[in-house]
Amino acid sequence: MEVKKVNADPTKAFFVHTITRDIKLEDCILDLIDNSLDGARDLLGSPEPSLERAINFSKYEVAIEFSEEQFLIRDNCGGISLDDAINYAFTFGRREADDPDAYSIGVYGIGMKRSVFKLGDDIVIRSTRPQPKKGAGEEPFKVTIDVPGWLRSNVWDFDLDSAEPLSAPGVEIVVKSLRENISAEFSNPAFENRLRRILSRDYSRFIEYGLTIRVNGKKVKAFEFNLLISDAIKPFHGEFTLKGVRVQIIAGMAARPSDTQDPDDEGEKEDRSGWYVLCNDRMVLAADKSELTGWGYEQKNRWHPQYRGFIGIILFSAQRADQLPLTTTKRNIDRDHEIYKLALARMIELTRDWIDYTNRRKSALDEAKSIERTAVYVPAFTTPTNKQQVYPRLTSAPRAQDVTIQYSKPLRVVRELAQRFGEPGMSAREVGSKSFDYAHRELVGGGD
Ligand SMILES: Nc1ncnc2c1ncn2[C@@H]1O[C@H](COP(=O)(O)OP(=O)(O)OP(=O)(O)O)[C@@H](O)[C@H]1O
Ligand SMILES: [Mg+2]
Repeated sequence: MEVKKVNADPTKAFFVHTITRDIKLEDCILDLIDNSLDGARDLLGSPEPSLERAINFSKYEVAIEFSEEQFLIRDNCGGISLDDAINYAFTFGRREADDPDAYSIGVYGIGMKRSVFKLGDDIVIRSTRPQPKKGAGEEPFKVTIDVPGWLRSNVWDFDLDSAEPLSAPGVEIVVKSLRENISAEFSNPAFENRLRRILSRDYSRFIEYGLTIRVNGKKVKAFEFNLLISDAIKPFHGEFTLKGVRVQIIAGMAARPSDTQDPDDEGEKEDRSGWYVLCNDRMVLAADKSELTGWGYEQKNRWHPQYRGFIGIILFSAQRADQLPLTTTKRNIDRDHEIYKLALARMIELTRDWIDYTNRRKSALDEAKSIERTAVYVPAFTTPTNKQQVYPRLTSAPRAQDVTIQYSKPLRVVRELAQRFGEPGMSAREVGSKSFDYAHRELVGGGD
């Protein structure tokens, strides 16, 4: 029989439904803000993200306004060039040849389109680009998408026209004819409060570094990451690099552990304890207490209110965002990613130090509390580099008898292990101790 072709073109409606289905409204807004921040980062010369180094974002502002009728986001972060708009910014998904900008969080080429389609039917995206040289100005433009009309037509292109310039170089997106569920969320004051809390937490470092985010006219304040420090309490602060991905970790005591032993006691409404995982500065997991960050991993050390008070922050950064352990919604971690697996082993160890302390503390509570009271809060990102978390030594706690173990092994295999532990420069003594802890955890489980 003569070979014929069957038509497998996706219908536009199916395509739009698929890309918008699994993303939450607040995550769409985060995607749009990420684009603004990628724009600003680009204008600042694509600096490498770092837990310690402040990048000056004080010139940049993102304003978000919403009501039952419409959504608006406007930034002054440099805008989209006409050329990029025509060839690349509006395509669904990146082409192979398009490399992401250094250290950007944009990677898939879908975020903006997915967000506006999720919001409503009447979309206008305007952009004004700064003039690099006198006379070489970019023409301000707008892209208009009438979603029902676009769904009916056979072409995938959108209309681009010239437009009045915005008051500052940047992008403005206005969506009207909102979907019913979106409009209902926007008119619910609880949504605005939740969004503010998320933005304050997820963009905390940008806001600290000067960025202004306004929601319905009011500035969002930065959530403060503070840790306790004294002679007896010292947070961990270290890093390692593997295959082009830099991993920085800060972990320590952010508050006194709770005294309650009741696992059902949820305590304060917003418990900030847990792990915060960032990829190229994007907050992917916040205050996480799940298996993903090691709690209850292989059935061990499930989260319990006794452990409240611990905060760990881990930043993965890579020139190419596609090397990061991220899922496409950027709201979850790819736990099978090689670098994440290595980092997780480190996170579990750090969590373990805290768990052990909260256990020891139970039998010497008064002594622990009086030592803890002498500690002071400092911003987590300013804590000094420190290879070992330190928690109070409690003299009134019963002490287990220690023995010293000595053995020799070929240098090569010791270095191999150090590499696998994520710190090639680690001392042989530390490799020995970690190997013991590792074997103990694997074979015996639980504490020491
Ligand atoms: N506010 C903005 N300022 C400057 N450029 C922008 C802005 N919004 C979008 N862009 C440009 O449009 C492109 C497409 O954005 P989109 O969010 O769809 O994909 P992405 O950011 O490349 O990848 P991802 O799907 O991971 O978000 C961006 O790469 C960027 O060049
Ligand atoms: Mg994006």
